[in-house]
Amino acid sequence: MKKIVIAIDGYSACGKSTAAKAVADELGYIYIDSGAMYRAVTLYFIENYVNLTNPKAVDKALDDIQITFIRNPKTGAVETYLNGLNVEYDIRSMEVSLKVSEVSALTQVRKVMVEQQRRMGKKRGVVMDGRDIGTNVFPDAELKVFMTADFHVRAERRQKELLERDNLVNLDEIKANLRHRDKLDTTREENPLRKAEDAYEIDTTHLTIEEEIEEIINLATSKMIGE
Ligand code: DC
Repeated sequence: MKKIVIAIDGYSACGKSTAAKAVADELGYIYIDSGAMYRAVTLYFIENYVNLTNPKAVDKALDDIQITFIRNPKTGAVETYLNGLNVEYDIRSMEVSLKVSEVSALTQVRKVMVEQQRRMGKKRGVVMDGRDIGTNVFPDAELKVFMTADFHVRAERRQKELLERDNLVNLDEIKANLRHRDKLDTTREENPLRKAEDAYEIDTTHLTIEEEIEEIINLATSKMIGE
């Protein structure tokens, strides 16, 4: 069967990453969490007090940032590294979530991230999730999925995810953050979040994660055999 690129886009907390990871594992594909890359850049910017309105400072910071994904041999999970340090936990903090949409709206940041993402998917056999994967990073992806879910369900899912990391965040705070990010992610000038014309839309509100995975695997299989 031929190796394909699977692009999974959608709003935050729709279940993209969980499904994308599982699909990649089942197909023996590489999984790339493009949101984690923007989060790692944001973490670096916060820690190094990078001024977002100073293009030179942003360029210099981008030159100093190296992002890698390494599989944890104990858990099997792919984790994000920033300049050699495991930042998988830190990039999911509320502090990063509050700033990531501003950082990812910067042209310079997107240019560098998109170049890296394209390199990572060059050999196909990759599942990448994000906001602009099907529309911009891999417009030629063989399978494009656009995920949606009810707003309240998304907020509850994000709360559960944070709680699993011992991070208790009030539901209203999460909703405010999701609303803020939805707005910035869909209205930014450069490659805003939108459904690619040829993407399959999956509403995950009433789906279990197993059902989500099954639906994507079925779609992927038909693409791999060239239907
Ligand atoms: O998937 P996530 O919630 O971890 O992504 C964090 C932010 O990164 C999201 O609010 C917008 C940005 N992002 C982006 O602009 N383009 C992508 N391909 C992925 C994420």
